[in-house]
Amino acid sequence: MRRSILTIITAVVFFIHLSVGIEVIDQPNYVYDVGFDLDIEEPAAAVQLLGLRNDKLKGLLEFTPIRNTIGQSEYQYYSFSVNTSSGLGEYYQFLIFLTGNICEQPESIEANETSLYVYFSFNSSMFQNFELGQLGTFKNGYFQGLADVPISNSDENEDSILYIAVQAPELTNRTATWSYEIGVSQNDLVFQWDDRTWASLVDTDNDSALIVTGNLTSSNDYTSLNATESQYALFIYSYDYKDYFNTLNSSWCAVRNGPALFSTSNFQSSYTDRNGGLQQQFYVSGLNESTKYIAYLVSDFKGTSFGGAVYQPFEFETLDNSACQLIYDLDFCSRVAYSVPAVKGIDKRELKTMYDENAHTLYTNFSKALQQIACDTDQDAVFSPIKTCTDCAQLYKDWLCSVTIPRCTTRNRTGYKYRTVGESRSTFIDEDLKPEFNYYEVLPCVNVCQAIVRDCPADFGFQCPLTNDTIKQSYYWDAGEGYVSCNFVGIVESSTSFAVRSILVNWPLLVVVFTFHILQLYI
Ligand SMILES: *[C@@H]1O[C@H](CO)[C@@H](O)[C@H](O)[C@H]1NC(C)=O
Ligand SMILES: *[C@@H]1O[C@H](CO)[C@@H](O)[C@H](O)[C@H]1NC(C)=O
Ligand SMILES: *[C@@H]1O[C@H](CO)[C@@H](O)[C@H](O)[C@H]1NC(C)=O
Ligand SMILES: *[C@@H]1O[C@H](CO)[C@@H](O)[C@H](O)[C@H]1NC(C)=O
Ligand SMILES: *[C@@H]1O[C@H](CO)[C@@H](O)[C@H](O)[C@H]1NC(C)=O
Ligand SMILES: *[C@@H]1O[C@H](CO)[C@@H](O)[C@H](O)[C@H]1NC(C)=O
Ligand SMILES: *[C@@H]1O[C@H](CO)[C@@H](O)[C@H](O)[C@H]1NC(C)=O
Ligand SMILES: *[C@@H]1O[C@H](CO)[C@@H](O)[C@H](O)[C@H]1NC(C)=O
Ligand SMILES: *[C@@H]1O[C@H](CO)[C@@H](O)[C@H](O)[C@H]1NC(C)=O
Ligand SMILES: *[C@@H]1O[C@H](CO)[C@@H](O)[C@H](O)[C@H]1NC(C)=O
Ligand SMILES: *[C@@H]1O[C@H](CO)[C@@H](O)[C@H](O)[C@H]1NC(C)=O
Ligand SMILES: *[C@@H]1O[C@H](CO)[C@@H](O)[C@H](O)[C@H]1NC(C)=O
Repeated sequence: MRRSILTIITAVVFFIHLSVGIEVIDQPNYVYDVGFDLDIEEPAAAVQLLGLRNDKLKGLLEFTPIRNTIGQSEYQYYSFSVNTSSGLGEYYQFLIFLTGNICEQPESIEANETSLYVYFSFNSSMFQNFELGQLGTFKNGYFQGLADVPISNSDENEDSILYIAVQAPELTNRTATWSYEIGVSQNDLVFQWDDRTWASLVDTDNDSALIVTGNLTSSNDYTSLNATESQYALFIYSYDYKDYFNTLNSSWCAVRNGPALFSTSNFQSSYTDRNGGLQQQFYVSGLNESTKYIAYLVSDFKGTSFGGAVYQPFEFETLDNSACQLIYDLDFCSRVAYSVPAVKGIDKRELKTMYDENAHTLYTNFSKALQQIACDTDQDAVFSPIKTCTDCAQLYKDWLCSVTIPRCTTRNRTGYKYRTVGESRSTFIDEDLKPEFNYYEVLPCVNVCQAIVRDCPADFGFQCPLTNDTIKQSYYWDAGEGYVSCNFVGIVESSTSFAVRSILVNWPLLVVVFTFHILQLYI
């Protein structure tokens, strides 16, 4: 009876962990029980059975992988003593998670070929007859197996020992070797992989790139978090290594120990909340222009030697010349993080301040005007039942930042506007900054304009262009073509409440006189 319950639970857990294949932990401060003080004794019986010298059978500790090198046709032996008073609760305590990574393997191994084999069983006779054990194989550099402790051994007083053997196949190259890691845990998978990308590119310029992780969760105020203590690590590989991990793409160990150009310690890393959620950002510099790179994000569960997860990599390419400079973490326009027209002799820090202060100055008059509307003071004065002055002020700020800080690129794509020297979006840029090169401007997204029309007091008389032809003069939209077709500054809203099509037909022409004046836009 007990047995069948266990089998069902085993099946469910097995399904969750193996069919889905992923179970990646997002929390930056995830704490693992690594059981450092487990007192493992090497099982004498097995040692005798095999005639192995004691040092040939390695004892694995909870969540503490071992790295090893194996030659073709060789076997290596491991054991793991189950802690019967620990584990995943009343039933799950009988489940043991086995995972492994191949760090390096002979080049002759093809993607669809089986690499190393893993046998495991609670019966030490398995070392003499492998048919007694369960068989697992490494795929894409990754192995995972689940062992459930036999009922007869589940007596609290009796030790259960899991026996594990790793076998390398026979190859024609007699000196071929594999390097691998194997880890066992009663609580979780020591190695994991995720076929989603968890990091993404924010923007590039001629020699740098800004990359962010997905939304993280943290109970702490993010300003108190120290990015050097983050579990995430980023590796930048040359595009020449595009296919390098074809056969080991699911191996954390392989990606972590590969021939990367740059790794985390080379980057400026910090946290940001410019997109609403908390993200870790990596500023990668020292790149070559017009060059493609591959970025791999990995997650280290507890430092670099206790396993981790690897995510799907992504590619990016640097811009073609020095016309644009990547800026981020502006004081006022805090949601701006993209390349802007460069100015000769002005470094990024200075450039960022110049654009930011200009926007801030222009904002001041609007914020005074908004105060005169007396919003939020009493219920009658609130201009909309849902939206407040704070919403309006934020949306206006996003819009102002996106129109005064043009997004710059060296690529010609549909929707981009070519700006020659002296003919940029504003007199501030032409007369005060004086960019030295021609560039393409990624125009602001029209929904950034439409948001202020929708959510700000009607008194302002904000208006946005109506038809596609007029929109194109100063804005663009998300063309859904797989490239950044317009520059969005703000927090992405749910698409249902804010469909582009309904907006295109609803709003009257052009930006208001008020905003038009202060910005002196060429539209
Ligand atoms: C077994 O696990 C329990 C609970 O995690 C822990 O308190 C105990 O020290 C462990 N036993 C050994 C021998 O490590
Ligand atoms: C592996 O793939 C190669 C080419 O893609 C093919 O020739 C070979 O037969 C495949 N091997 C197996 C065992 O499927
Ligand atoms: C181990 O396997 C052998 C061979 O099948 C069997 O005779 C023996 O009873 C098994 N031992 C345990 C503890 O199950
Ligand atoms: C055989 O394997 C070794 C170690 O992996 C490697 O250095 C050597 O180049 C290989 N030889 C051939 C002929 O592939
Ligand atoms: C962040 O952590 C690193 C290493 O743990 C330490 O050297 C550095 O001083 C810390 N930085 C801050 C701002 O606390
Ligand atoms: C990240 O969090 C923000 C704020 O909660 C949310 O608006 C955004 O959709 C999230 N992004 C993803 C990819 O989940
Ligand atoms: C940049 O290009 C030079 C010359 O081709 C090359 O040696 C160097 O490794 C490249 N650096 C990066 C980061 O791509
Ligand atoms: C590795 O490649 C295989 C097959 O190409 C794919 O199914 C798997 O999702 C990839 N793994 C990762 C972590 O991207
Ligand atoms: C990139 O452009 C900046 C000016 O915008 C220039 O100072 C720098 O040398 C350029 N880097 C490379 C690698 O060309
Ligand atoms: C702000 O308003 C004052 C008074 O109306 C005006 O003199 C000034 O030029 C305005 N500033 C900007 C940047 O438009
Ligand atoms: C950009 O591409 C479009 C369409 O291919 C072309 O008509 C236009 O002349 C190009 N602009 C420049 C400045 O080369
Ligand atoms: C305007 O652009 C949108 C977005 O690309 C498109 O769906 C729509 O058909 C266009 N309307 C006209 C009249 O071209």
